[in-house]
Amino acid sequence: MLRDGDAVAVPANTYIASILAITENRLRPVLVEPDEDTFNLGVAKLAAALTSDVKAVLAVHLYGQLAEMPAIAQLCRERGLLLLEDAAQAHGAQVDGVKAGAWGDAAAFSFYPGKNLGALGDAGALTCKDRKLADMVRALRNYGSHEKYKNLVQGPNDRLDELQAAFLRVKLKHLDADNARRREIAARYRREIAAPDVRLPAVRAGEESHVWHLFVVRVPDREAFQRRLLDQGVHTAIHYPVAPHHQRAYARELGHLRLPLTEALHREVVSLPIGPVMSEAQVAAVVASVNPTA
Ligand SMILES: Cc1ncc(COP(=O)(O)O)c(C=O)c1O
Repeated sequence: MLRDGDAVAVPANTYIASILAITENRLRPVLVEPDEDTFNLGVAKLAAALTSDVKAVLAVHLYGQLAEMPAIAQLCRERGLLLLEDAAQAHGAQVDGVKAGAWGDAAAFSFYPGKNLGALGDAGALTCKDRKLADMVRALRNYGSHEKYKNLVQGPNDRLDELQAAFLRVKLKHLDADNARRREIAARYRREIAAPDVRLPAVRAGEESHVWHLFVVRVPDREAFQRRLLDQGVHTAIHYPVAPHHQRAYARELGHLRLPLTEALHREVVSLPIGPVMSEAQVAAVVASVNPTA
């Protein structure tokens, strides 16, 4: 159980929603620099960041790749820390047969329309192993009501709309095939992109550990790179242009931090197009736009 003011370790380069989930609950984020090649939370830097204030770890499977989960789960067990997962970008990613959402004490999924499993509007879900926690979360999402018109606790209205649930039930059947197609595209990018200024993402725990929500590369001159691709009709995006500790929203709590790797990543990362509906011709066009012309 967490108490007000307890600290939660979280990767510093995550989407700000992970940090907001911590501060909304009157907890304190401890930002951990990621692994520089996977962009993900690794066990060595996490272990180094653990002080006695840290009572939980929020592992984020950023861009669709599982964080270093076997080792992180082991560390959390040894230290008696709660392990939470932000699986918003990683539906279906797995290591050792254990999927995103099944590693921690609880995990959150987003079904925002652009996600690997997306609804037609906002939606999300939580997974956990403990029945009592599940019952509490079920109550909390519905004004804290365990039983109709009986409220043991105060809660918001965070119900999953039935129509969205129906769409998701149909789309879930296609998730594995969609992820497989994303992996094919990522494999082709990793095989065929050969540009001296482009650093490709690393995959550390096998192909299944990544579902390629995003294909993120690092380039030293991002603006020029994006312009060059756009001139060839290839749109790119940035996930994310501003680090959470540099956001105005956190100026007071986190603005003093210096996180050189996270800051470099926020300057250099750029996402190439990836998605299950891309054709081979489109993938080839992206590769051609990135690679230098002979
Ligand atoms: C890593 C991460 N965490 C949390 C969220 C929040 O999900 P939602 O927008 O469904 O609240 C997102 C998606 O936007 C995300 O990418």
